[in-house]
Amino acid sequence: MARKKTVLDFQKMRRNGDKIVFLTAYDHPTAMLEERAGVDMILVGDSVGMCLLGYDSTIPVTMDDMVRHTQAVRRGAPNTFVIADMPFMSYQVSPEDAVVNAGRLIKETGADAVKLEGGQRVAEHVRAITDAGMLVMGHLGLTPQSAGQLGGFKAQARDAETALEIMKDARAVEEAGAFSILIEAIPPPVTRIISERSDIPILSIGAGANCAGQLLIVSDLLGIFQSFTPKFVKKYADLADDMVGAFEAYGEDVRKGSFPETQHTYGMASGEEDRLVELLKDDED
Ligand code: KIV
Repeated sequence: MARKKTVLDFQKMRRNGDKIVFLTAYDHPTAMLEERAGVDMILVGDSVGMCLLGYDSTIPVTMDDMVRHTQAVRRGAPNTFVIADMPFMSYQVSPEDAVVNAGRLIKETGADAVKLEGGQRVAEHVRAITDAGMLVMGHLGLTPQSAGQLGGFKAQARDAETALEIMKDARAVEEAGAFSILIEAIPPPVTRIISERSDIPILSIGAGANCAGQLLIVSDLLGIFQSFTPKFVKKYADLADDMVGAFEAYGEDVRKGSFPETQHTYGMASGEEDRLVELLKDDED
């Protein structure tokens, strides 16, 4: 079994140009399978709210949700670097709040790091968490917790001014001590400049290949998430159709009585069926 990777391994992978494979997971079986497949890093994203819990944004996700799902992922992938997302309003109010909630995630779940959204405006909060001895991943570009301010789930940094602002954000978060930054839905030329100007691994979701590694949402990759499919998603399976097919086949079998078959049932111990007939007879007398 492969040893769990550390920040030093990720730094080395970046230096050597070995791409970091990063994927979300929200539950125990998926985490187990991702570890088996050799995924380098798992994000327990607050996307759990949309992918698993049926919300139409990440805003309602709570600290308790994140703790429960990160614990399940940790149990499933004990030898993989796991990052727990900090949910909306768990770090924005004050650096103190940010430290307390990051501490809870790390302490109660066994996660290796936390992730939070934002640049210059949360740099002080990132600094407070790293000063408390915890690892922080930044998240810039399309930041779903502020999708309202961004006008929806839209690509970012498509004009030079916004691109420059995101570069300043990346600098601020790196200087505040983040070990890595995830950038979402920005054009590859901007990703390349951020990556070249940083000394930490820059990871992309929908931000092109000019960086240290790639993240996808597992429900998108597997073709389970049905509400919408962002442009940057590549589906590696179509489990939604496979699942509906399996449910329909089961329904058909039950309705026509061809499930269960003998092989799906338990036999009585030898001679017990005859004894039961006798007991029933005695019972009737
Ligand atoms: O919650 C999440 O999965 C994320 C990704 C959208 C980057 O933050």
